[in-house]
Amino acid sequence: MAFPETRLRRFRRTPALRRLVRETRLAADHFVLPLFVRPGQGVAIPVGSMPGVFQQSVDRLVETCREAHGEGILAVLLFGLPEQKDAIGSSSWSDDGIVQRACRALKAALPDLVLIADVCFCEYTDHGHCGVLKGETVDNDATLVNLAKQSVSLAQAGADVIAPSDMMDGRVGAIRAALDGAGLADTPILSYAVKLASGFYGPFREAAESAPAFGDRRGYQMDPANGREAMREAELDVQEGADMLMVKPALPYLDILASLRRRYDLPLAAYQVSGEYAMLKAAAERGWIDHDRVMMETLIAIRRAGADLICTYSAVDAARLLAKGWTE
Ligand code: PBG
Repeated sequence: MAFPETRLRRFRRTPALRRLVRETRLAADHFVLPLFVRPGQGVAIPVGSMPGVFQQSVDRLVETCREAHGEGILAVLLFGLPEQKDAIGSSSWSDDGIVQRACRALKAALPDLVLIADVCFCEYTDHGHCGVLKGETVDNDATLVNLAKQSVSLAQAGADVIAPSDMMDGRVGAIRAALDGAGLADTPILSYAVKLASGFYGPFREAAESAPAFGDRRGYQMDPANGREAMREAELDVQEGADMLMVKPALPYLDILASLRRRYDLPLAAYQVSGEYAMLKAAAERGWIDHDRVMMETLIAIRRAGADLICTYSAVDAARLLAKGWTE
């Protein structure tokens, strides 16, 4: 049956008809809020390129999480700015590390909030690369040993989910073995399986003070041109025991997300990264786009492509809109 018998506009006529046939929906349950924790007391330093985002001390972080949880956000993703950095990022596996302290405080204050701990070294090394250096490259296998230590330390401090973002080969297997060996067999791994070497991370590096001191991350993060290689990355992580896979950034890589959705039954996450957020805020500030409408459109697009969870700095804004009855 074709036109004129078939007219797709019939179900677009009114808001109620559109809602009846809507295929994808948003809920606060799907959002994960990324947060930056730093030392101090009563500290909240705004991140210039990310309006509404702050580096916060643990006490302020707890209040931010309380508020987000009250808006229906179930999970947060934690990044740390340590008091000191060194060549190997050893403060990341200190029992007294900044994210470890944050996890303990959050578990005590908000026991139901799901704590996802980012596992990587770029915030903890004095050179800003994601592992141990050998010359000017990151030594994959030496870094695995440290990733395992960081993961165990964070899980022991109360992290509910371990989320490695470093892009070393073999890390999921190394982390799984270490967690199991430490009696943490119930702690899941959310692998940033498909993480591209992206210009969209620019504002994050200001937020996390993690820009590399030389070179870039193309030696370990994926080439944005490669979709088939993304499937190989995912397959290896699944074989190594990943419990959930993530694609990052989100909007430029929806094709990869959709391919993963078709191939795997694992839960999938997508990370709407700092640059995606900054572009939205900057264009909206100039009055060039409608902030709320574009924010919700990007989130629904990421869900439609196949994400179960979306890590987004807009989590609370979007949850508030939904609570007010937003329908696209
Ligand atoms: C690495 C890490 C990065 C992001 C999350 N984890 C930055 C990078 O690879 O340089 C970026 C997130 C964002 O841009 O919002 N620890």
